[in-house]
Amino acid sequence: MALSLILHVLLLLSLSFQFSSSSSSSLNSGFSLCVEKLEDSILSPDGVFSAGFYAVGENAYAFAVWFTRNPTVVWMANRDQPINGKRSSLSLLKTGNLVLSDAGQFNAWSTDTTSSSPTYLILNNNGNLVLSELYSNESNVLWQSFDFPTDTLLPGQQLTRYTKLVSDRSSTNHSSGFYKLVFDDDNILSLLYDGPDVSSIYWPAQWLLSWEAGRTTYNSSRIAVIDSIGTFNSTDNFGFITSDYGVVMQRRLKMDPDGNIRVYSRQHQNDPWYVSWQAISSPCIVHGLCGANSTCTHDPREGRKCSCLPGYRVKNHSDWSYGCEPRFQLSCDRNESTFFKLPDVELYGYDYIYKKNISFSDCENECSQDCECRAFQYSFNNDGLFQCYTKKVLLNGRRSPNFRGTTYLRLPKTRRNNGSFFADEESAQENGRVCSVKLERAYTKRHVSSFVKFFLWFSIALGVFEALFISITSCSLMRTKQKSDVNQQGYNFLSPFGFRKYTYSELKQATKGFTEEIGRGAGGIVYKGVLPDQRIAAIKKLNNDNIGAKRDEAEFLAEVSIIGKLNHMNLIEMWGYCAEGKHRLLVYEFMENGSLAENLKSNTLGWTKRYNIALGTARVLAYLHEECLEWILHCDIKPQNILLVSNYQPKVADFGLSKLLNRNEQNAQSISMIRGTRGYMAPEWVFNLPITSKVDVYSYGIVVLEMLTGRSATTMGSRSDEGEEAQNGRLVTWVREKRKRTTSLEEGSSLTSSCWVEKIIDPAIGSQFEVKKMKMETLASVALNCVEDDKDARPTMSQVVEMLQCHENDAS
Ligand SMILES: *[C@@H]1O[C@H](CO)[C@@H](O)[C@H](O)[C@H]1NC(C)=O
Ligand SMILES: *[C@@H]1O[C@H](CO)[C@@H](O)[C@H](O)[C@H]1NC(C)=O
Ligand SMILES: *[C@@H]1O[C@H](CO)[C@@H](O)[C@H](O)[C@H]1NC(C)=O
Ligand SMILES: *[C@@H]1O[C@H](CO)[C@@H](O)[C@H](O)[C@H]1NC(C)=O
Ligand SMILES: *[C@@H]1O[C@H](CO)[C@@H](O)[C@H](O)[C@H]1NC(C)=O
Repeated sequence: MALSLILHVLLLLSLSFQFSSSSSSSLNSGFSLCVEKLEDSILSPDGVFSAGFYAVGENAYAFAVWFTRNPTVVWMANRDQPINGKRSSLSLLKTGNLVLSDAGQFNAWSTDTTSSSPTYLILNNNGNLVLSELYSNESNVLWQSFDFPTDTLLPGQQLTRYTKLVSDRSSTNHSSGFYKLVFDDDNILSLLYDGPDVSSIYWPAQWLLSWEAGRTTYNSSRIAVIDSIGTFNSTDNFGFITSDYGVVMQRRLKMDPDGNIRVYSRQHQNDPWYVSWQAISSPCIVHGLCGANSTCTHDPREGRKCSCLPGYRVKNHSDWSYGCEPRFQLSCDRNESTFFKLPDVELYGYDYIYKKNISFSDCENECSQDCECRAFQYSFNNDGLFQCYTKKVLLNGRRSPNFRGTTYLRLPKTRRNNGSFFADEESAQENGRVCSVKLERAYTKRHVSSFVKFFLWFSIALGVFEALFISITSCSLMRTKQKSDVNQQGYNFLSPFGFRKYTYSELKQATKGFTEEIGRGAGGIVYKGVLPDQRIAAIKKLNNDNIGAKRDEAEFLAEVSIIGKLNHMNLIEMWGYCAEGKHRLLVYEFMENGSLAENLKSNTLGWTKRYNIALGTARVLAYLHEECLEWILHCDIKPQNILLVSNYQPKVADFGLSKLLNRNEQNAQSISMIRGTRGYMAPEWVFNLPITSKVDVYSYGIVVLEMLTGRSATTMGSRSDEGEEAQNGRLVTWVREKRKRTTSLEEGSSLTSSCWVEKIIDPAIGSQFEVKKMKMETLASVALNCVEDDKDARPTMSQVVEMLQCHENDAS
């Protein structure tokens, strides 16, 4: 005992000696850290973590724990009450209380602990700040920071029934924000938006029953923990493994201010962090991001965007979470109000009235006879009935081409008629995106004028027919897809273990030594194989020269897992990957029914099938370009890469190579290694112009022209002495020529604009043509617009979806 006392005194002396020389490994009772000496900090024995004063604003500090290199805060004592940069200190009192005093005057924070024996504060190698009694054994911990997490969970740190993660208010403001990771009353680990006015759970999705989301409500022990190799487990059965599973490195799980939880990893202290897992892939699913009376859109080029609903204006320009307020007064008189149609806009939750099997006018009536009704949503559900939801509050608005429903917003008649509502729609982008894509982004800002120009062009071309056929409600008659389709909108957390890593020998065996080749495409050769679990798979071996031997394995894994998490009914599913030595392989589901190319050649496709293939392909490209968190170009859209399933739904294959193959190279030239296929390549490839998502739009346009005309873009009139440009343009020139000649011949006829389509149509579908004129006309016009030489004149894929969708279920 006496010996141990002497040892401790010696330890104490040596520690306080260290302490006087800036960083120390502990703080002992009777000592303080002063805010004026920022270099005074407590280091973990291995130096990875530091604890000390961290600047959170001008002359504002918090006592925090952070990763020492490239400082990243993992814990804060006083996030909501920062202290002054003068005369503030952290003191470990002789009574055992650890106290943070502000400007020497009052206590901003304390541990409220007492001890009769001397105490000491140390920072462990795992990032846990621990206050213990000196004269007892190690287990007598008085207080530890792991029991009071802020927004971060470190490996080994438990989230329990007593704790929660609370996000920062914003990426620059560390005070408590609105998003929480908690166990809810049903023992389910959930993400909660806890805003100033309302609170709601948005993960797991509320329309899923807990067992549908793979959770169980029966285990009330409520513990969740992530370990250092990348496994997360929660007592409600939720779990995942990170994309870089197994690799030893630094990790942290963070409740981010944008409402998502992510696991960040880095291999070395000096590396930047990268995301190895996240809960939500479509950022607009998060509640409350844009506040009330607004819609959220996600555009990977510019990040998330908040817009006020028409007729509303933003409340606080520096903080969108305050939402928008109306610029009008609604009168109770139903004749004074009108409804403004908002296609693709969903206002999630807060339904006031829900009615099934109801006509549009009855639904409209439900809303207009209720003074407080602000909007209604009318859609077609799974069992073939129309449903009607009315809303008194307009929350969780989001706009997505994948939402198959229409919202009708109530506005006063007079204001609407003077047309000022869309003219000054207010919106703003959020800048701080978490994962950045290393592709060159050559986007010029989207100009309103070219957008408007495009729609002018489009409406002139279609004007006559619109007037004849499109009633106000035709777009709202779009059939909503089955629930499985709703699942495809980015709710990917249902099968966290569905994606796995294969060894090279497993895949070699599966493909019988890479013998059965089934295709060749950008970046590699595809083989057929049978996986150990007997599933038939298409296994793509990436060419080594494209990946580059230097390519970091962890980086490859990070990207593959992002691609593996893409989830859309029109996308081939990726089951796994292999990264071993210099081998890089991708494992996809196998489609036995062949590609669009084969089906076009054998003339098995009727008109409706072709239209649906065009629409499905457009949807998935819109998803890749605009809905995913990370920006993904396909770069090789061609009929060979559009596979068909039994009901002739398209599934796009070979996506994501643009991400995999040129991560470290920033210029357009490096991308050109994976340049598409002759006949489908946009002029940008030929003229070495910046590559943007508009190259996919161009290739898509060519594919649609092929489907319409039955002519091939690659063989049409090709002579060996022709250059690439001439080749590329053949089909396009031919179609344009037909349009020009026909319209000039028939000038004056009211039906001119459709007649040219007859001249280009594939004879194989000619007999069904009469009744489908309008859809065909739309498709042909859209396709021609997609293949404009000037990339800015081409529409985006979501605009294409919008235009095609309007006609999806036109009668006959
Ligand atoms: C951070 O946000 C809180 C809550 O909105 C606000 O009170 C505080 O002033 C903000 N701090 C800074 C430094 O902007
Ligand atoms: C607007 O938001 C900022 C940042 O949260 C806040 O400091 C400010 O007080 C808000 N202004 C109003 C008028 O609410
Ligand atoms: C949203 O709009 C409604 C009127 O439609 C208004 O009563 C409400 O106060 C608005 N919400 C906010 C946060 O301004
Ligand atoms: C829907 O309503 C129509 C007419 O109101 C009725 O004939 C039909 O049986 C209803 N269908 C269902 C499934 O309730
Ligand atoms: C392939 O097509 C046939 C009929 O055309 C169908 O019965 C079969 O289910 C399809 N297979 C797949 C995997 O889609």
